[in-house]
Amino acid sequence: AHVWRGVLREYADRLGVTDASTVVTLGEGGTPLLPAPSLSRRTGAEVWVKFEGMNPTGSFKDRGMTVALSRAVEHGAKAVICASTGNTSASAAAYAAHAGITAAVLVPEGKIAMGKLSQAVIHNGQLIQIRGNFDDCLEIARELADSYPVHLVNSVNPDRIEGQKTAAYEVVEVLGDAPDFHFIPVGNAGNYTAYSRGYREEAERGVATRVPRMFGFQAEGSAPLVRGEIVKNPETVASAIRIGNPASWELALEARDATDGWFGAIDDERILAAQKLLAGEVGIFVEPASAISVAGLLDRAEAGIIPAGSRVVLTVTGHGLKDPQWALRNADGSTVEPTVVDATTSEVASVLGLQPSA
Ligand code: F0G
Repeated sequence: AHVWRGVLREYADRLGVTDASTVVTLGEGGTPLLPAPSLSRRTGAEVWVKFEGMNPTGSFKDRGMTVALSRAVEHGAKAVICASTGNTSASAAAYAAHAGITAAVLVPEGKIAMGKLSQAVIHNGQLIQIRGNFDDCLEIARELADSYPVHLVNSVNPDRIEGQKTAAYEVVEVLGDAPDFHFIPVGNAGNYTAYSRGYREEAERGVATRVPRMFGFQAEGSAPLVRGEIVKNPETVASAIRIGNPASWELALEARDATDGWFGAIDDERILAAQKLLAGEVGIFVEPASAISVAGLLDRAEAGIIPAGSRVVLTVTGHGLKDPQWALRNADGSTVEPTVVDATTSEVASVLGLQPSA
């Protein structure tokens, strides 16, 4: 049996690891790529789901964070800093804890999911809530890193993109080639950029015969790449991608053009319906931002853009347990109330609609 050693060691030759002693890893990467028969049936495509919630802190951020923290330690950094809608802060705090250095994390006040806030706190992150949105947090983090001895680990740090591109390597390894389409949520567009780069490298190496068309999705209320302009007050239930001014805007447009890609917007109700569908029919529980990949596929299939039999990969970026409140919300906004009965077998059988076996 092969024991997975984290992306820096698994892909040492391709990520340029020079000194194995400074590798900071929690065993990230090597996540499942799962067939999704129900989505295949609904769309006529062959659909696979790359479940990035299975990383150590529950999101794809860990792939980039192992590289960013390893490099920071190599350069003698004692503190890292990031702005975050939640997942980056959870990952930075965990990897910094493992490395024995400090992580300062700036988050928009009251706007990140409880699970993510809990992670940053328990990993000893220096958590500061900013009275502002994510874009304000990123501006402050960048200015601090320019003028103070703190190392920036947002995806504007190229080490992050380098680590995250390994997910595309894994897809190609499992499928034996790149898919025809790749669907992915977009906030800062760092991950969109990373997958595009990973796939391009695989094609250049001759391991893949094609690069997939990269289809990125933003929430309707925070879709600057779709609108072509900065969104001042982004709003969506998908708090992870509530971003009005993506840091990797230019790189993302380049990647879109190079792959015949596309950016689309999906409203909150469709995001939440897709989250329920993926959990209920495929068995994968993701946070709302991640479900936008599923909603995006259904949208494009309905629009007739996906030829029958196309091979499609969806990245779902973060685990549902990070932000569980949406699972207990009905489509009409009311709260799910589980049935309560007395402690008798007959009453439970009756509620379940069971008849005694013959
Ligand atoms: N999905 C999830 C669950 C995320 O947390 C993020 C970004 C994205 C998708 C979008 O990725 O920014 O590379 O386009 N979260 C960042 C954070 C902003 O701070 O955790 P992107």
